[in-house]
Amino acid sequence: MNFHVMTLFPEMIEQGLNTSITGRAINSNIIRLNCVDIRKYTKDKHGHVDDYPYGGGAGMVMQAQPIYDCYMDIVAKNNIKNPRVVFLTPAGRTFNQQMSRELAKEDDIIFLCGHYEGVDERVIEMIVTDNVSIGDYVLTGGELAAMVMIDSISRNIKGVLNNDISAETESFTTNMLEYPQYTRPEIFMDKKVPEVLLSGHHKNIEKWREEQAYKRTLERRPDLLQD
Ligand code: ADE
Repeated sequence: MNFHVMTLFPEMIEQGLNTSITGRAINSNIIRLNCVDIRKYTKDKHGHVDDYPYGGGAGMVMQAQPIYDCYMDIVAKNNIKNPRVVFLTPAGRTFNQQMSRELAKEDDIIFLCGHYEGVDERVIEMIVTDNVSIGDYVLTGGELAAMVMIDSISRNIKGVLNNDISAETESFTTNMLEYPQYTRPEIFMDKKVPEVLLSGHHKNIEKWREEQAYKRTLERRPDLLQD
């Protein structure tokens, strides 16, 4: 899987994702991270990539030309046919586990990270296939959102996690939040590990975990139980 990211801050994404599990997956060539600096494609003699919005209003808008040329270069250099192009925007469809699993089937995904007050709509219309938000709040730019998506998609790719089972039993696979987990010691500051987990009785443990998952989902995310 190749993740291509069009951004004004490539080092932010590289630093974040070259760490921990995604970093290991990049090093072992299970995933590839190709961050491309949009600013390299500007034809403006001062290196500007943004300008004032037509019609007035606050903030600056990212111009179409550097983004379009950046996109064309990524597609040509990597010989990509019909790529999914994800624009990170609070005005998009909300990202979830199902979308993550779908996107994990692609060979290439190109992410476009916006900054300033927005991106010229014409280039979005020309290249973007998916407008995606990571939640109902506004970030200063799309970079953190792209990192969230890449992290999540990566762990749905075979070989990225050490154990495939953990991706299957975790929250959202069954529309339930995950049950609580415990490890040694058996007593921590007077708090004891639930007795059933020490019993070695697998049926009872499974039943207890299902109950806990249901209780937690009912308390924290009742909306997940509705469909
Ligand atoms: N850019 C700014 N806010 C965002 C959000 N919530 N999701 C995706 N991209 C964004």
